Amino acid sequence: MIELLFLFCAYLIGSIPTAVWVSKGVFGMDIREYGSGNAGATNTFRVLGPKAGTFVMVIDMLKGVAAVRLAYLLPYYQNTEHLTQLVNFQIGLGLAAVVGHIFPIWAGFRGGKGIATLFGLVLAIQPLVALCCVGVFLMILFLTRYVSLSSIIASIAFPILILYIFNEPEVFYRIFAIAVALMVVLTHQKNITRLLKGNESKVPLFKNRKD
Ligand code: G3P
Repeated sequence: MIELLFLFCAYLIGSIPTAVWVSKGVFGMDIREYGSGNAGATNTFRVLGPKAGTFVMVIDMLKGVAAVRLAYLLPYYQNTEHLTQLVNFQIGLGLAAVVGHIFPIWAGFRGGKGIATLFGLVLAIQPLVALCCVGVFLMILFLTRYVSLSSIIASIAFPILILYIFNEPEVFYRIFAIAVALMVVLTHQKNITRLLKGNESKVPLFKNRKD
């Protein structure tokens, strides 16, 4: 099946280890040896600064968008009668990219936690829901300054929005939304432990605010 080949391509796109390549290529070090040890935008921002962090965030997000858009290369999915199949396939492609981001073939299968790539996936298929999740993320970030907690709560908000606010009828979509929240909780296990112990690092934003 050609779809399987496309899913593998999406995995390869997601596997592009932006944080690892930027840290090694530009800064001569491996981001996974510093900070939280995560090969993602937050840790790049933390260790290498806002320019590198923003770059990694944008590229990792675009990996999700690009994977989703692969579906349009197949004529079957260009037919508007196959809209449900299109969305289901796009979700599969996006998830393959997220798996690639977490377990990148190009970087010893040690990647990031999938947040930026997941965001790209949701942005490509449900922009309004993605923006709502960003709102939740920013609100929690403003209140706590924990990126990890903000990511976790925004991802839990995702299925709540899909099921109860946007009343999504597609079963596959609903399962996907719940799976996203579970996946994010799983990839953030170390963060959750640190949050519970009170030693998770905060971002240096809103510094003037009194905690
Ligand atoms: O996107 C990942 C973020 O939620 C946590 O990253 O580096 O603090 O583990 P980090």
